[in-house]
Amino acid sequence: MSATGVSAQSVFTAGPNPAEPEFWQLPAEAQAAAFARLRALDHPVYCLDSRTGKGFHALVRHADVVAASRTPEVFVSGPGVTTPEPARWVRALFGDSMVNLDDPRHADLRRIVSRAFTPRLIARVETDIRRIAARVVDEVIEQRPEDFVGAVAAELPYQVICDMMGVPERQRRAILTEVNRASEHTGVKRSRLRVPGRGLLALARMQGSIAALGRERRRRPTDDLISALVTADVDGRRLGARELGAFFSLLLVAGVETTRNALAHGLHLLTTHPEQRALLTADLDGHLAGAVEEILRYATPIIQFRRTVAADHVLGGAQLAKGDKVVLFFGSANRDAAVFPDPDVFDITRSPNPHLGFGGGGPHFCLGAYLARQEMKVLLRELLTRLPEIRSTAEPELAHSSFDHRVRRLPFTF
Ligand code: HEM
Repeated sequence: MSATGVSAQSVFTAGPNPAEPEFWQLPAEAQAAAFARLRALDHPVYCLDSRTGKGFHALVRHADVVAASRTPEVFVSGPGVTTPEPARWVRALFGDSMVNLDDPRHADLRRIVSRAFTPRLIARVETDIRRIAARVVDEVIEQRPEDFVGAVAAELPYQVICDMMGVPERQRRAILTEVNRASEHTGVKRSRLRVPGRGLLALARMQGSIAALGRERRRRPTDDLISALVTADVDGRRLGARELGAFFSLLLVAGVETTRNALAHGLHLLTTHPEQRALLTADLDGHLAGAVEEILRYATPIIQFRRTVAADHVLGGAQLAKGDKVVLFFGSANRDAAVFPDPDVFDITRSPNPHLGFGGGGPHFCLGAYLARQEMKVLLRELLTRLPEIRSTAEPELAHSSFDHRVRRLPFTF
């Protein structure tokens, strides 16, 4: 056994290794083949980055990802679920994001932010989604943009979150500029950055604008989400200015980038699978929900989250030691033939479709899953009915990322 409790035999050496940064530069097919080989082994293996000497147990099978997600007392989210861990000063400056917290702090925060997802607020947002989707399509017809990501896929979820939060129209462009600057400068390749860079300063400026809105709403509450979050509930709990900023940043990454990537992959999948598209458009009411689930399974917008092992534990036949890291590979779980027959086939009629695109269950299960599904359904319906010829015209320009299946650009026509 090594210091991490990993026996030498279970260290993975037999092919491309997801712990090495180069793995994420490989073509998608080579990555998929490597995950298929890992799934075929009879227990999770330890993947080591030879340069840093650090590594993790790769959870690649559906059952293992579900088991770890639903055993949060062993698989904890603190000190962080992204790789590498956020620097201490980042957390000091921006506050802890709920994805990186465990109970009781996680449950406490989740209870407060769940106010955003009450039936009353969601019902109001649904009217907003339809209005925004119609406007986005009007603008496409009028302006004939070339890139689906910027003009359509990113625009809808961003405007929906701004509407929910109550961010005034006049501030939205400026905030989006800061956000884009932040994600350009803090992308995966540069995420080892340990000092404040331009991207983080942009993020700090954006959070400053949101904190100012929070102070204003505390003085004069309206019926938006920021007001709900900064005014006290029956137990007297509310978000402080910094927590509010951290939550808004999380929503932008968790709610905008993910939905945008799902929509972009969706258009491309429907373009490259004309028979599935014909099936869908022949009966939108019958197949739209299934198509959205299959897009989420097939494209899996978030590739992975990490957990830390809090106590010695056996999972899927592997001995894990306290302090070890495990990585939950949602995309690999979504291609597990033990759960999905013909997993590499894109089939909008797949049923059941217990994909892990929103996580494997448990306390961190995606808070915005219902909202994201609604956004996808409304926008796809609007696009396919008003622009029946819409299609991508080239392969999507993908970012090489170990964290998300990010589409930078997708040329399209209608
Ligand atoms: C297609 C779109 C989306 C995908 C694929 C997605 C995926 C995920 C995944 C995989 C997780 C982690 C689950 C886990 O660790 O068990 C997560 C968490 C989260 N998502 Fe989503 N998400 C999407 C849209 C949204 C939207 C629209 C929102 C909000 C407006 C949102 C808010 C969140 C939040 C707040 C968390 C953290 C929950 C917690 O730690 O308790 N997501 N999401």
